[in-house]
Amino acid sequence: MPGTDHDLTRRFYDRISAAYDMIADSGEHTARESGLNVLDVKLGERVLEIGYGTGHSLLELAKLVGSTGKVCGIDISSGMHAAAIRRLTHAGFADRVELRVAPVPPVPWPDATFDVVTMSFTLELFPLDVIPAVLAEAKRVLRPGGRIGIVSMAVTPDGQEDSFMEKTYKWMHQHFPHIVDCQPIAAAQLLKGAGFVVTHQETIDIWSMPVAVLVAQLKSTGAATNEPSLLTDHER
Ligand SMILES: C[S@@+](CC[C@H](N)C(=O)[O-])C[C@H]1O[C@@H](n2cnc3c(N)ncnc32)[C@H](O)[C@@H]1O
Repeated sequence: MPGTDHDLTRRFYDRISAAYDMIADSGEHTARESGLNVLDVKLGERVLEIGYGTGHSLLELAKLVGSTGKVCGIDISSGMHAAAIRRLTHAGFADRVELRVAPVPPVPWPDATFDVVTMSFTLELFPLDVIPAVLAEAKRVLRPGGRIGIVSMAVTPDGQEDSFMEKTYKWMHQHFPHIVDCQPIAAAQLLKGAGFVVTHQETIDIWSMPVAVLVAQLKSTGAATNEPSLLTDHER
């Protein structure tokens, strides 16, 4: 499946990069934008996006962090990289963003580099047994007190039946993973399992499939979870 075979994943996203916004973004943009809103990124923050795609969130993040902040991104696909660079350059924000093309994990930045890590429609692409490693890397590169934003296809809550679309999606993922490469995940549980504290959780409906919008936080050093970091800007 694409998540276990980097070449296959890379080729898949390279191939669809030019058409990605037409194929996916019309449905996904509402959830992606909600995810950014609740993440509440501030001026001067350092933000990493994993799986930046065609760069919609990168551009918004670059505006939010301002000239004193920094946005970094990593994506496996050079096609997506080219699309993101085009968007950023056209909008005049390319100098505020540092992009890499490489597979995750690992996340090739030093410990405690970022205030915020974000992923939209990306965490669910990784095989279930790889997700803990992805979250562990996200945790490592976050500063104490830092936060993570996840927007992902969500599993149907216990006691509710999957919608027709969801059943179809799961069947397609099981039988044609090269076409439908993602699967609904229990993102809140996965975040808690990785040592994050979930601070915001909502579910949005896209094409009758549940999409989770989550924010979670790392504990500040020696302080309650939602207390501000004790580190100075310089130490970050
Ligand atoms: C479904 S797209 C979502 C793009 C964007 N976040 C959005 O919401 O529009 C997933 C992105 O993750 C990237 N990706 C998939 N597997 C990856 C991996 N193992 N490492 C890095 N990027 C990956 C793909 O190239 C693609 O750009």
